[in-house]
Amino acid sequence: MTVLGLESSCDETAAAIIRLDPEGHVEVLADRVRGQTAAHAPYGGVVPEIAARAHAEVMDVLVAETLGDAGITLADVDAIAATSGPGLVGGVMAALMTAKGLALGAGKPLIAVNHLEGHALSPRLVEPLAFPYLLLLVSGGHTQLLIAEGVGRYHRLGSTLDDAAGEAFDKTAKVMGLGFPGGPALEKAAVSGNPARFELPIPLNNRPGFEFSFAGLKTAARQIWEKIESPSSADIFDLAAAMQDKIAVTLSNRASNAMKYFIETYPDALTPVLVVAGGVAANKAVRAALEDAAKAAGFRLLAPPMKWCTDNAAMIALAGAEHFRQGEQDALDVPARARWPLDAASAKLDPVIGSGRKGPKA
Ligand code: KG4
Ligand code: ZN
Repeated sequence: MTVLGLESSCDETAAAIIRLDPEGHVEVLADRVRGQTAAHAPYGGVVPEIAARAHAEVMDVLVAETLGDAGITLADVDAIAATSGPGLVGGVMAALMTAKGLALGAGKPLIAVNHLEGHALSPRLVEPLAFPYLLLLVSGGHTQLLIAEGVGRYHRLGSTLDDAAGEAFDKTAKVMGLGFPGGPALEKAAVSGNPARFELPIPLNNRPGFEFSFAGLKTAARQIWEKIESPSSADIFDLAAAMQDKIAVTLSNRASNAMKYFIETYPDALTPVLVVAGGVAANKAVRAALEDAAKAAGFRLLAPPMKWCTDNAAMIALAGAEHFRQGEQDALDVPARARWPLDAASAKLDPVIGSGRKGPKA
């Protein structure tokens, strides 16, 4: 089965073509991602209107390039998948409307994909990983622990109560004037820093549960920064190292709680797997902390290659292909959604679709 996938929910425009065989093996025939970092850098964060316009300008070009890379035409594609949420709704529309137009014009089925499901299935781009597995999704917009039980079946254990982990990196880096995007900049500064010099709190330390919180930690780092009159390089490096360390410890502590829960819920799982996905998974301190936690809990840590950890369209094509082979497809009036919880339980609690309502991040 050959599927074209499109993605534009945040600040990456992406198109990819994958082939899925009946055993679940995936071949990525083409995979293009166009970032917008330079367009947003002057503002120190993603500007939704700029993002939406930039997506719309390049989406069709990317589709043509991906078809060219794969050496196929639209006629060879079995279905067209696009992210239809959650995300910045003006951006989501670029991929979704392009997919609708292509589906209508070429007479192909359309599959509307939940972006979070794309991340949840992303490890299966690498290997036909068996369900169930535990997933820690850590990006600029999301921080959550969930159990992937099967295609379309996800159990969210917990999310962040305030900021996402990537947001905590980005906002602290912004306060410290380290540049945008902040995560990689802060990691670079932290390399030569002493994480023990400045005292920062470990959010939700020693508490049971699977939620996250980074707002207090972020504020504590800002308050320390504001008290330093003329910061030396050592001050910058040490505060960056302390912040990174506390984020890594928090993520691994909460993941440890989830691994314990997973083992209790699935006592027969032979080699349980913890998958880490999202941009923050690029951070070496975060990976090392998760590696230690996974080892201690008897889990294998699986971190997909970075190109499939961050936003991409191969994971969207795969999610679309998995649903399509279950006999599902969507009507051409399927809406773009700002909010779209992945698990059925919270979808019932939070049925607001496309409202753009502000609230705690997932
Ligand atoms: O998954 P992603 O590319 O996009 C979404 O947010 O959906 O994640 C981007 C986030 C940003 O917050 C960025 O600062 C963070 O991932 N990030 C990092 C690193 N690389 C990217 N955070 C810490 N250390 C890094 N090396
Ligand atoms: Zn994402």
